Amino acid sequence: MHLWLFGYGSLIWRPDIEYVDRRPARVQGWARRFWQGSHDHRGVPEAPGRVVTLIREAGSSCDGMAYLVDRDAVEETFTRLDHREKNGYERHSVNLTFLADARREQGVVYIAPVDNFAYLGEAPLADMADQIYRSVGPSGTNVDYLLELASALRALDAEDEHVFQLENAVRELSR
Ligand code: SIN
Repeated sequence: MHLWLFGYGSLIWRPDIEYVDRRPARVQGWARRFWQGSHDHRGVPEAPGRVVTLIREAGSSCDGMAYLVDRDAVEETFTRLDHREKNGYERHSVNLTFLADARREQGVVYIAPVDNFAYLGEAPLADMADQIYRSVGPSGTNVDYLLELASALRALDAEDEHVFQLENAVRELSR
């Protein structure tokens, strides 16, 4: 079977997988939040960065990019992404709605659940911005992750107050 993979964080702007099609898509009942710790990409174990996960929230939705992976590439794609998302993320099945035509598909998404070892949870906006401003890891600065995400969301015309407020706060710190 082919696979629709939904990306809502770095998978939007740096999928780094083989795909045959991609479409902007939405998941209902989930909110994107910078509540997951990053020990391996945008921070280090002693000073984790903050990256996004999805939190169940009735009435919310999250826009991102859905990638169609050919059946022959599914296994390799999971091997690659299971490694990339190993810091607390798990695969979940999710209902996707394509933004262009409202078509629905079943997809797979990587979510870091609230009980994972690297979960940080909610914090005041200023504290989250400060942590992002200071953090850096093997994949680069945490600020770059946030700014890349904000710019990818603007390119999708996606609303996300949480991400855009953090972006503003971090830009203020960078002045
Ligand atoms: C995703 O992009 O879908 C998962 C979170 C991340 O890797 O930033």
